[in-house]
Amino acid sequence: MVQTIEVSGLRKRYGDVQAVDGVTFGVEEGEFFGILGPNGAGKTTTLEIIEGLRKADEGEVSVLGLSPWPRNPGLLPRIGVQLQASSFFERLTTREQLRTFGSLYGVPVKKADAMMELVGLEGKADVRVEKLSGGQAQRLSIACALVHDPELLFLDEPTAALDPQGRRNLWDVLRQINTQGRTVVLTTHHMDEAEILCDRVAIMDAGKILRLGPPAVLVRGLDVPARISVASGVLAVADARLLPGADEAADDGISLTITTRDPSAVVAAMAAKDALTGVQIHGATLEDVFLELTGREYRA
Ligand SMILES: Nc1ncnc2c1ncn2[C@@H]1O[C@H](COP(=O)(O)OP(=O)(O)OP(=O)(O)O)[C@@H](O)[C@H]1O
Ligand SMILES: [Mg+2]
Repeated sequence: MVQTIEVSGLRKRYGDVQAVDGVTFGVEEGEFFGILGPNGAGKTTTLEIIEGLRKADEGEVSVLGLSPWPRNPGLLPRIGVQLQASSFFERLTTREQLRTFGSLYGVPVKKADAMMELVGLEGKADVRVEKLSGGQAQRLSIACALVHDPELLFLDEPTAALDPQGRRNLWDVLRQINTQGRTVVLTTHHMDEAEILCDRVAIMDAGKILRLGPPAVLVRGLDVPARISVASGVLAVADARLLPGADEAADDGISLTITTRDPSAVVAAMAAKDALTGVQIHGATLEDVFLELTGREYRA
C-alpha cells in the first residue's frame, strides 16, 4: 500500500504543555482517516505539523513522499487545507473569495464559481464573507480547500458549525471526493460522523494515540452489553430481570430497558411473551469506545 502520510515519533511542546507526545501513524492513499479526541488532545497541532504550518520539536513527517517543513511549495498545489478557524481575504464576497483562492492555483473562474453550488452557497455569491453565518463561513472554507482539486484534503472539524442538513450534505460531498481516489484526513467530535465516513480512526488524548483502527474493529473490541428497550409497562421490571440472558432491567416510565450480553436470547423470550412493542436494540458505538478510553469527565 502506498503511504500518503507517514508520521513517526512526533512531538510538540508549547511552554509547559506537551501538546503532541510521541505520535506515530500512517495514512494510505485513498483512505478516509479520522482523528478523534477531547478538546486539547493535540489533534489540530498534529494536523498543522503535517500540513507544514508548524514545526515539530521531534519526529519525522512525510506527505506525498515529501517533507512538509520547511514549507514546501511543491506540496501546496497538491493538498487542500481547511483550518479550525476560517480565515478569508477581507471585504470580498463569497464568489470573489473562491475566485481569488482559485487564481492562486490557476483554477478557471467557471470552476471556482461551481464550488459554490457544491457546498450550497450559490445564494450567497454576492455576500461579503463577514456577513455569512458561522455555518456558511465553514462551508465556504471547505469550498476554498477543494477549489484546486487537491489529492489530499485536510479538514479540522469541518462540520462543527453545520446544521444537520448541512452536515449530511457535506458527508455526501466528502464521500464523493474520497470515491474519486482522494485521501481525506479529518478531525471531528461527532462519533456518528467518524463511524459513517472513516476507514480508520485514531483516538487521541493528551498528545498520544490511544487506539487506531477501523471503527467497527474498535467497537467489537469493547465489552459493552447491548441495550434492548421496549415501551414502558409491556413487561414488569421484576419479570424482565428474570428473562434468560438479561443482566439488568429498568423502567423510566417511557421505556423499559434491558441490558444483556445475549440479545438474541432476550428478544426470543420477549417475543414469546408478546412483549416487543416499540423494540429498539442498541449495540456498542464508537462513542462507547471513545468514552471508555478518554473518560467521561470534562478536562481543561
Ligand atoms: N499556539 C499555541 N500556544 C500555546 N498552546 C497551545 C497552542 N495551540 C494549542 N495549544 C495547547 O496545546 C494543546 C493541544 O491543542 P490542540 O489545539 O492541538 O488540541 P485539539 O485536539 O485540536 O483540541 P480541540 O478539540 O479543542 O480543537 C492544548 O492544551 C492547547 O491549550
Ligand atoms: Mg482542534
